[in-house]
Amino acid sequence: MLISLENKVAVITGASQGLGLAMAKRFCESGADVVLLARRQTVLDEACEEIAALRPGAKVKGYACDVRDLAQLESVYETIERDFGKVDIVVNNAGSSSRSPIEALNMDTLQADYDLKVKPAMRLVQLAVPGMKERRWGRIINVVNIGAKAPDAGTAPTSMSRAAGIAMTKVMSKEFAPHNVLVNALCVGQIMSEQWVGYHKRDHPEMTFEDFIAMRGKPMPLGRIGQAEEFANVACFLASDQASFVSGVAINVDGGQSPVL
Ligand SMILES: NC(=O)c1ccc[n+]([C@@H]2O[C@H](COP(=O)([O-])OP(=O)(O)OC[C@H]3O[C@@H](n4cnc5c(N)ncnc54)[C@H](OP(=O)(O)O)[C@@H]3O)[C@@H](O)[C@H]2O)c1
Repeated sequence: MLISLENKVAVITGASQGLGLAMAKRFCESGADVVLLARRQTVLDEACEEIAALRPGAKVKGYACDVRDLAQLESVYETIERDFGKVDIVVNNAGSSSRSPIEALNMDTLQADYDLKVKPAMRLVQLAVPGMKERRWGRIINVVNIGAKAPDAGTAPTSMSRAAGIAMTKVMSKEFAPHNVLVNALCVGQIMSEQWVGYHKRDHPEMTFEDFIAMRGKPMPLGRIGQAEEFANVACFLASDQASFVSGVAINVDGGQSPVL
């Protein structure tokens, strides 16, 4: 099966590094023009250069945008439509880990997690869906985590906002399916990205990074954590024509870690 995103324009949030960058690369290699959003322009510029080198003629552009600022998101979206003419694929990926035991949970932290992971995703979809409906083709992928379906102790607020992401995905899939706009969620397990550099420094700075990653991977069903490219492959399939009968699902991309389907 050949997976092609030819003539499609994809917008990916949180795309300057990690899973977002891996998706941007895979989408570009598969034929899409790619729009990257993140806050730091210099990191975006480096990422765009790297991605554009993958396919001659590819249109790749990064726009500095803090997705929590909805007015900024709206204005950047307007520029994207002007520069690219349309948006066919949206990947809501920007996020970070936020953990706290319930008794210590500060309400501002809870709110901040929704402000980063739920509201921008909803707003970006509201902006992109009218064009997708008009063209009768669209793909929306909401990146959440496995805690959305199987929350663990100490993982509020992230599990709560991620569960909202799954509910949002289902509602969107029902509302947009009649217009051939398909909406799915991807539940991340433990996958290598820049986030892990931070975990290493925080949890085990005395170990080498390689030993730390091997240690974290050992108890996993596959005996390792995932690679960003493995995640990007699943996203690329969902973004393509080949996934034309898949909507309203939340797929674990976790090497079998989650206790639930
Ligand atoms: N990797 C894992 O093991 C794992 C596990 C569970 C869930 N996830 C989720 O998967 C997604 C990708 O994770 P990752 O590991 O690739 O993370 P990462 O390496 O930390 O990358 C995060 C990306 O998001 C951007 N970003 C962060 N805050 C933003 C904001 N307010 N506005 C716009 N862009 C923002 C960052 O760029 P700037 O800093 O320049 O803005 C960066 O491009 C996240 O939602 C994360 O929570 C990952």
